[in-house]
Amino acid sequence: MAVYLVAVLLLLTPCQPVPLDFPPLSNSSLTFEELSNTTEQYSTQPPGTIRRTPQTIIVGVRKGGTRALLEMLDIHPNIVVAATEVHFFDWDENYVKGIEWYRSLMPFSFENQITIEKTPGYFTSPLAPERIHSMNSSIKLLLILRDPTERVISDYTQVYYNRLENHKPVQPFEGIVIKNGALNTKYKAIQRSLYDIHMERWLKHFSLNQIHIVDGNTLIKTPLAELQKVERFLNLPPRIVSSNFYFNQTKGFYCIRSDGRERCLHESKGRPHPVVNETVLEQLYSYFREHNQRFYTMVNQTFDWH
Ligand code: A3P
Repeated sequence: MAVYLVAVLLLLTPCQPVPLDFPPLSNSSLTFEELSNTTEQYSTQPPGTIRRTPQTIIVGVRKGGTRALLEMLDIHPNIVVAATEVHFFDWDENYVKGIEWYRSLMPFSFENQITIEKTPGYFTSPLAPERIHSMNSSIKLLLILRDPTERVISDYTQVYYNRLENHKPVQPFEGIVIKNGALNTKYKAIQRSLYDIHMERWLKHFSLNQIHIVDGNTLIKTPLAELQKVERFLNLPPRIVSSNFYFNQTKGFYCIRSDGRERCLHESKGRPHPVVNETVLEQLYSYFREHNQRFYTMVNQTFDWH
């Protein structure tokens, strides 16, 4: 428990500068003339713009770094991003509302701009691949992944803090991950990290060259390099540059500088993780190893995972 107290204290330590979360949209893409016609956050329609269904979706994975990726891409003048996680393709109650409902939640964009939506739950949803394909079979998908064990711990940490906030009881990581002396492979956070199983479904509907995999571990350490790869994948001119990022020592992560503003991700992103028992870590590494190898073969790419 001591580690959680330390974690809570760290969480309460302010980071300078202290932004809340990024604003959903940026006007950086517009010329001066267009800007003067644009109202804050596109609440009304700027002339020459319409709402478009996304040409690109960040489909996951939960806790992979999806928010960082979206906010960093939003620096690009040819990209506009949806304000919220829409959950159109993975939640039936939204899907039945139809494509026009979905489009109505997208930002206004000019013809030369790409609309991007991100809902991390799509990657693990059994229905999302087919539904997205039926909306746009030539869509470009972005998938950000990180070491599967780290992702499980990050997933656990998020739920842990949510439960604390809601005054619900919490359990140590090891108490959830190990049941009757064995790895609890039914734990949802573990299942979400079985990237090969989920990827198999996507590859039934999309070709590999429609899916760009962003290395979430690299995005943390050298964001620019990962974003330049995305610019190339989306056939966009290179506009994101090193001065768009600065390392914030207090937060321990890169933050964003654009439009004359500096901002870090919300405090719920980049939280300290619990220190996990070495034996449990080894059990997780060895459980994921075979799945990772299968995933590497599937996508023709390797990652520096345990
Ligand atoms: P942790 O909070 O566990 O460290 P998502 O947005 O998909 O929920 O992913 C959250 C994760 O994004 C964070 O997990 C963090 O590691 C990662 N991340 C990547 N770049 C970041 C950045 N610049 N600032 C904060 N978190 C970042």
